[in-house]
Amino acid sequence: MAACPTCSNSAPDGSRFCPFCGGKLAALVRKPQDPLVGKVIDNKYVVLERIGTGAMGSIYKAEHRALSKQIALKVLHRHLLTEESHVKRFHREAKAASRLNHPNAIAMLDFGQTEDGLSYIAMEFLPGRDLCRVLFDEGRFSDERTIRISAQILDALDEAHAAGVIHRDLKPENIMIEKLRSNPDFVKVLDFGIAKIRDFAGSENSSFKTATGMVFGTPEYMSPEQIRGEELDGRSDLYSLGVLIYQMLSGELPFSGDSVLEVATAHLTQPPIPLVEKVPGINPAVAAVVSKLMAKKRDDRFENAAEARNAMMAASENAVRPVPPGRKSEQRPQQAPEARINASPSSPESRLGPTARSAHDDDVAPAFLTEVNPPVNSNVQIVKVVLMIALVAALVAGIAAWFWMSYGQ
Ligand SMILES: Nc1ncnc2c1ncn2[C@@H]1O[C@H](COP(=O)(O)OP(=O)(O)OP(=O)(O)O)[C@@H](O)[C@H]1O
Ligand SMILES: [Mg+2]
Repeated sequence: MAACPTCSNSAPDGSRFCPFCGGKLAALVRKPQDPLVGKVIDNKYVVLERIGTGAMGSIYKAEHRALSKQIALKVLHRHLLTEESHVKRFHREAKAASRLNHPNAIAMLDFGQTEDGLSYIAMEFLPGRDLCRVLFDEGRFSDERTIRISAQILDALDEAHAAGVIHRDLKPENIMIEKLRSNPDFVKVLDFGIAKIRDFAGSENSSFKTATGMVFGTPEYMSPEQIRGEELDGRSDLYSLGVLIYQMLSGELPFSGDSVLEVATAHLTQPPIPLVEKVPGINPAVAAVVSKLMAKKRDDRFENAAEARNAMMAASENAVRPVPPGRKSEQRPQQAPEARINASPSSPESRLGPTARSAHDDDVAPAFLTEVNPPVNSNVQIVKVVLMIALVAALVAGIAAWFWMSYGQ
């Protein structure tokens, strides 16, 4: 356990934020100097500082010497690649992931080995916050914001799956959100395919436990087939994304527990509490998409990411109607999540959409082009019509009376 220097409470080892006051532990606690900081790697990269550490390795901000450009280096933990065959497979996976070229997937720039045999991956440096931090800071998201973020993740997954790369480790720490002028939630998916290294370094037949019984991975987001250690396809990523979306919409994980085994068992056997029960006012069509993504059997999920994206956009259509041409654009009223802390009520999020667009965009109108028409108060309309009729009747009666008075006698 580490002590938070702000509130003095204990935080579990490895936590980046204090569970009591939210302070950033890594930034506040004095760490022993990382031996890689200040070193030059492969004669190409100067390591500037450590950004974070995960199960697979540590992330460093570094500078590409020749280009004088900031990059991020992921240096894998030594115990993951102990055998020559592991290193070879790592190179194969890294090569496959580096071919991925999509605006919503992080660009992998290079990979190799440090002088003392550590494997590393060089990638673009992202200045935003990861989804874990955004959820912590701002609480659960509105339907629109969730759809906008998920659509970008699905775009990246669609591209990756078509290239034969399965992510295997979708979780909030692997989603970076950058605030751009054109998109307040521009998404980059990190660590495509890297979890495969964890799998082949672990047990041959289970991605969940190694031969020594050590648990790898993030069971909160693992698909049932991944927990069972089966061969995976893109639908496993769709399940993990379903868990992520559930968390974005409700602010809570569908399955949690005191032990990894408890969480894993829930994924295998328990249905999650339906979102329509958990989140008052949620668009039921969006909730239905999430429950299809989280189907226990992969055959019951969407066939692929493109189909899921279409369903998600169609669900958003269900709740909002297109703005008639020429009418002034208005903000769609936001859900008011109690957990939300900092979100600006005037944020332009319901009007701005994903920067990356796919071929499917033409099939369905994206959420950012649609909004709710203002409610029409029908009682007021009826009163207006009745008054008009009364006015016309009074006028006719007046004219008739004048005729009768003038000519009738
Ligand atoms: N390219 C990057 N640019 C900027 N920050 C990054 C980059 N990659 C990762 N990070 C930050 O570093 C944190 C740690 O990343 P890392 O991948 O090492 O750990 P993790 O995702 O929590 O676990 P795992 O090792 O299982 O992937 C991320 O949550 C993110 O905030
Ligand atoms: Mg990661």
